[in-house]
Amino acid sequence: MKQLVIAIDGYSSCGKSTTAKAVAAALHYAYVDTGAMYRAVTLYLLEHNISFENLDQVEAALHALHISFRRNRRTGRNEVFLDGVNREDDIRQMVISNSVSEVSVIPLVRHAMVAQQQRMGRRRGVVMDGRDIGTTVFPDAEVKVFMTADVVVRAQRRQIELAEKGEQVPLDDIIENLRKRDHLDSTRAESPLRRAPDAVLLDTTHLVIDEQVDFVLERVSAALFAP
Ligand code: DC
Repeated sequence: MKQLVIAIDGYSSCGKSTTAKAVAAALHYAYVDTGAMYRAVTLYLLEHNISFENLDQVEAALHALHISFRRNRRTGRNEVFLDGVNREDDIRQMVISNSVSEVSVIPLVRHAMVAQQQRMGRRRGVVMDGRDIGTTVFPDAEVKVFMTADVVVRAQRRQIELAEKGEQVPLDDIIENLRKRDHLDSTRAESPLRRAPDAVLLDTTHLVIDEQVDFVLERVSAALFAP
């Protein structure tokens, strides 16, 4: 069977990664959470007290750090490792969410991450979620989905996720963080968040996960069996 690249882009907390993970599992494809990579860089810079403005130090950090994904056999989750250490929980904290958009605007950072993502998907058979997969990382992806949802609904979903991990955050703080990230992600000069002309729009405001997954799998069937 032909191996595809499936690009799932869109706004923060629309259910991209949950959908992408389930699609990857259904197709036995690899799954790459590109947001986790930008989060891991942010964690590294913060922990090493590197100012985001100090581009020499940022560049040195990008050469020094090593990001990889490993599947947790117990949970089935793909977890992010930074320099060989599992940092999955650390990269999801609000302190990282509050700084990651400032790091992901840095062209040096984007170039390094995009190059690594292209290497990870070079054999195809991959579902990748992020902001610029269909536009920059894999403009030739066979399936491109652009996800969006009402900001309050997104914040409520995020609040539940954080609470499950023991972090209680007021809804207004999450809404503010999402709005700020949407703005920074959409207005940055280097590969901004935007819908590729050939991406299909998926508004998840009133959808449950199974419906989102079915939507993407239908596009996959169409791409595989198109005449
Ligand atoms: O998907 P996420 O919320 O974990 O992503 C974290 C941040 O990383 C998000 O605010 C924007 C940035 N990002 C990006 O610029 N490009 C990507 N391909 C993925 C994420």
